[in-house]
Amino acid sequence: MSQDTLSITDNRTGKTYELEVTDGTIRAMDLRQIKVDESDFGLMTYDPAFTNTASCRSSVTYIDGDKGILHHRGYPIEQLAEKASFLEVAYLLFNGELPNRTQLADFTQEVTMHTFVHENVRTFINGFRYDAHPMGMLVGTVAALSTFYPEAMDIHDKENRRLQMVRLLAKMPTIAAWSFRHSQGKPFVYPDNDLSYTENFLAMMKRVGDNKYVADPDIVRALDVLFILHADHEQNCSTNTMRAVGSSHADPYSAVAAATAALYGPLHGGANSAVLKMLRQIGSVDHVPAFMKSVKEGTGGRLMGFGHRVYKNYDPRAKVIKKLADRVFDIIGTKNPLLKVALELEKIALDDEYFVQRKLYPNVDFYSGLIYEVLDIPVDMFTVLFAIPRTAGWLAQWEEMLLDKDQKIARPRQIYTGQSARDVPPRDER
Ligand code: ACO
Repeated sequence: MSQDTLSITDNRTGKTYELEVTDGTIRAMDLRQIKVDESDFGLMTYDPAFTNTASCRSSVTYIDGDKGILHHRGYPIEQLAEKASFLEVAYLLFNGELPNRTQLADFTQEVTMHTFVHENVRTFINGFRYDAHPMGMLVGTVAALSTFYPEAMDIHDKENRRLQMVRLLAKMPTIAAWSFRHSQGKPFVYPDNDLSYTENFLAMMKRVGDNKYVADPDIVRALDVLFILHADHEQNCSTNTMRAVGSSHADPYSAVAAATAALYGPLHGGANSAVLKMLRQIGSVDHVPAFMKSVKEGTGGRLMGFGHRVYKNYDPRAKVIKKLADRVFDIIGTKNPLLKVALELEKIALDDEYFVQRKLYPNVDFYSGLIYEVLDIPVDMFTVLFAIPRTAGWLAQWEEMLLDKDQKIARPRQIYTGQSARDVPPRDER
């Protein structure tokens, strides 16, 4: 008997089956041969929230949650954050290798040339109510882009696919910044093609009047590093959405809009704004013990920015962000008072049996919100700042899914728990 197999005895029938084990997994479809009789549909697995189901093979991102390891295409996140720019990481995610100088110059030029949006997009954003949430505007506007590029439906043509990927990467900061300007009641700032990807985004958010926007290079780099840290994270909720929507062969704008909607939720990309709201609510270090008590008793909600489905150790991105936060605070020259509250929460949680037992450590969102706040970016924009770089990861995973011969339209099964068949009674008898 081959060693890379799993023997299963079905005690209902006494039959034994031998299933192949490849890469530490069995194929769920191999279970379907296990039946009590010929009319039986066959054995399935029940895995709500996909906690133990590999939905794809992927070479984009590797995570070892127990060890706190994150690699993109083999490169540790710590090294990418130190030695690469966000556009280099986006290129890496798309192409599998880091660009050389010429490739980077070409890619940067291509992305820069696609930062402008059709003028009707501007009118479209202006149609939102004055108090619309920027994430709602982002979701709607990205979906609307599909109507400007109907050729994007041709997802099987590599060149066409790549053009849409570059367009999306290039236009996300423009739409994001314009959503912000709209919510501030400020005029839209057009992209400035002399600026880098990140500086351009800052300029479109912050420029006042006709003056050229000049950002502190250290702040630009800090934001670029934050973008790197958020670029991809394998099969999370929004990436899974991107793949699921993409599996029906919808165009990439519609799929990115859906992924952005998934990111909006407070348990995913909305967590960084939830962290800041929580810190403000706690207010000062004296209130931390009472807050922690309420979290443990289940009356105070969750400790936002803590815990992760995959990491059962310190999130490696949180380590980089913590250092980055110190650097940004030094540059800006103000220490955010909420940082003290955050540090106290972290100190208590890392020592507390409730959190230790459940392996709850700070995740990437715990400190990112504090940096954004010091950069004078309002809370409603935090998730938008997550969506911009994650677009690179979504698109890389989307293309990988399309080229994967194992993939089909995503369509899980269910265990039906409803009524058995019955007749519709006349209205008067219901
Ligand atoms: N605070 C307090 N308790 C928590 C927390 C938390 N942040 N996270 C999990 N727990 C507890 C749960 O109550 C549960 O306890 P129990 O076993 O006594 O019932 C146990 O830890 C396991 O929790 P699950 O919800 O089963 O863990 P899951 O893997 O489903 O959740 C999640 C992961 C959603 C990230 C969760 O930890 C959470 O809600 N964290 C706060 C929100 C957050 O920071 N999200 C950002 C995630 S990272 C990202 O999207 C970039």
